[in-house]
Amino acid sequence: MTTSEQQAREEELVARVLASFDGTADQRLRAIMRSLVTHLHGFLRDVRPTEAEWRAGIDFLTAVGHMTDERRQEFILLSDTLGASMQTIAINNEAYADATEATVVGPFFTEDSPHVAPGGDIAGGASGEPCLVEGTVRDTSGAPVPGARLEVWEADADGFYDVQYDDDRTAARAHLFSDDDGGFRFWAVTPTPYPIPHDGPVGRMLAATGRSPMRASHLHFLVSAAGLRTLVTHIFVRGDELLATDSVFGVKESLVKDFARQPPGTPPPDGRDLAGASWSRVRFDIVLAPARTGGPHVPPPRE
Ligand SMILES: [Fe+2]
Repeated sequence: MTTSEQQAREEELVARVLASFDGTADQRLRAIMRSLVTHLHGFLRDVRPTEAEWRAGIDFLTAVGHMTDERRQEFILLSDTLGASMQTIAINNEAYADATEATVVGPFFTEDSPHVAPGGDIAGGASGEPCLVEGTVRDTSGAPVPGARLEVWEADADGFYDVQYDDDRTAARAHLFSDDDGGFRFWAVTPTPYPIPHDGPVGRMLAATGRSPMRASHLHFLVSAAGLRTLVTHIFVRGDELLATDSVFGVKESLVKDFARQPPGTPPPDGRDLAGASWSRVRFDIVLAPARTGGPHVPPPRE
């Protein structure tokens, strides 16, 4: 319980800090800074941290910065694990007709993925069970979208993305284009669960709060086409026990798909020789909203 004198001092400080932004010419920036100050001071006055606790918070954010480099983006992990990434995506991808839902981009998208032809294999030597992925790209009127660019990427069977290895490999990522009927087909590997990188400050936060770093099994998509809203999403594996506790809150029911298991020796439709191995098969029909409905602030992939 704070006295009225104490409350008055705290509120007077908030008012002075808010007023310091009165001269901000950019009205959007002014609104953002005022809201930030309002919520930050609300947080402080709610939590009432000791000075040592505030210092620990600053030390934590400093460690997040030090952990971040060209290959490791600890701030994205922090945003993801606090649900801030998914909230931003929800705000920027308003529900529109039957447009496919968006989810987090995650820290492992890279520019300049290799191109694969229709029916090609994105695995590039990545370990894992072969998985045939097929579907269509359509707009919300149901018209096929030919020439849509699909960026796809995923972890290997050991739970690592190519960029997490230190040998500069490129694997389990590629881009391809939808055909004249909006269709696409490619080989990948059956998604498996993996932990987000948890050897840094975000991992310590998860451990301290009793949370798991595991992500539900998924395959990433970034789908773009002229005049349509760029879609950043994943598909998830129905039956995965991690769907309810995904560490970045990325799961949406509409994105959970049946990965049909194919027993060893089942011939795939394209005649690919799988040497008698088991494989899986999934269908993902993608619907893109019109561009004018807004979308994520993801830089469009270079052609
Ligand atoms: Fe991922």
